[in-house]
Amino acid sequence: MATKAARGGRVKAPQSREERSTNERPIHGPCTFVVFGGTGDLARRKILPALSRLRLEGLISDDTTVLAVARDTGLDDRGYRDMVRQAIEDDGMSPEQIDRWIEETVFYECIGKGSANDFKAVAARIEKLEKERNQLPNRIFYLALPPNVFPATIQGLGEAGLSRNVTGSGNGTKYWTRLVIEKPFGRDLQSAEALNQLIHKYFDESQVYRIDHYLGKETVQNLLVFRFANSVFESLWNRDHVESVQVTVAEELGVEGRAAYYEQAGAVRDIIQNHGTQLIALVAMEVPAMMTAEFIRQEKVKALRSIKAITPKNVVLGQYTHGEINDQSVPGYREEPGVAPSSRTETFAAVRLEIDSWRWQGVPFFLRTGKRLKRRVTEIVVKFRRPPVWMFTPLGSPDVHRNTLRLTIQPDEGFALYFHIKAPGKPLKLERLPLDFFYKERFDELPEAYQTLLLDVVDGDQTLFVHADEVEAAWRLFTPILDNTLAVSFYAAGSWGPKESDDLLQRGGQKWSNGPRS
Ligand code: BG6
Repeated sequence: MATKAARGGRVKAPQSREERSTNERPIHGPCTFVVFGGTGDLARRKILPALSRLRLEGLISDDTTVLAVARDTGLDDRGYRDMVRQAIEDDGMSPEQIDRWIEETVFYECIGKGSANDFKAVAARIEKLEKERNQLPNRIFYLALPPNVFPATIQGLGEAGLSRNVTGSGNGTKYWTRLVIEKPFGRDLQSAEALNQLIHKYFDESQVYRIDHYLGKETVQNLLVFRFANSVFESLWNRDHVESVQVTVAEELGVEGRAAYYEQAGAVRDIIQNHGTQLIALVAMEVPAMMTAEFIRQEKVKALRSIKAITPKNVVLGQYTHGEINDQSVPGYREEPGVAPSSRTETFAAVRLEIDSWRWQGVPFFLRTGKRLKRRVTEIVVKFRRPPVWMFTPLGSPDVHRNTLRLTIQPDEGFALYFHIKAPGKPLKLERLPLDFFYKERFDELPEAYQTLLLDVVDGDQTLFVHADEVEAAWRLFTPILDNTLAVSFYAAGSWGPKESDDLLQRGGQKWSNGPRS
């Protein structure tokens, strides 16, 4: 995996060509970055700010062309550039700093109803821009679209000849074409397989970048370094020493005006099948033969395929009712605008997973997520086995004094390893203390996940993207629990989810760890 350390940091003014030639950081690109859904929420909130920051930091070439494609008939290049300025201003940047870039490199094309001719028009516009701007035909197609239009767009690109890597007419030079596709990737195993088949009809897997923005988070990438660069942890990372693993993705937010999407999705499709499963795979995978995209993704697929089928007794689904978060009263899910009054959509899910491998046999992995929970925290908690003999019985139970490793993905990114010391003096007293590291104490602001991921697409590094086999392995696991037969329990907003979720752990003598402040 390429080191991302050089990509972070504060926003600086764009560099001159002279500065860049003496700068060690590589400039990525140039290429044509085509954003389908260029006027949508994702483009405005994530993609345009990320591209702008990359440009501002001098990390992508100022020749990189951005062509937004959308259905808005009333827009032209000028109107779209204003939209870009607004989007990056909303993200806290000053558009003046990169105004020239916006003026010279951002364009807009209306796709109409998305007919074959509309795609041909997009192809013609791309070629025209490449010619006018004297640019190599390296192309990225980013589908920042609602999932129901993925198939038509993939087909449209393919039929218009846009999925192929372009070969230079003069010298036969090969240029590249890449497809970036957002989550949710399918609704279940069957639809994900169908989408993969359609993609593979036109694109080779080596051209495909399935985004899971969790993989772009520094702290998620750090998991591999943490595990494989520190022999002290890796030698403990197995059934002999680990008693259980917990992964929590807890949010204070509710559905935030996304009811139309969320009613169709629910917590299993929204978080468990993708972000949560990626975290499990990174914790559970074996050491890859090399730190390359191919080997890392192979190990992740193997880990996911080793997870046993999930039985209903190992699943808890929940939905929030009215409650309080940070002293603010918040409505229940069924009272949110756009949500059906009798909705059965789960806003909480907890599952107990068992991994059938030499490394993990018998170690339960608990994965949970929920909206409107007490506190925002994404963490992985590894509980180590208690000492085989406990000599300090009068000072408390060995269960209380277990070593624990807490890897916090957000907020307060970092890790803490809890261990015991003798407090000074008499009588003998044990104290549990963390040995910890927090990114914010050591580094500048962390780069935004989308920045990291977009740069990797430009570089052709697929390490942080989800392979077709991986996405299918994850759906194979969770599709059986999406058949609407499982009960959905209620929990008050501001709690840690339904009581059944605590019971799920208590059955094995465990307890959820609710963030460092718990
Ligand atoms: C998205 C989900 O993929 O991830 C959202 O669709 C969720 O529902 C979000 O809020 C969480 O991402 P993060 O980076 O804020 O943890």
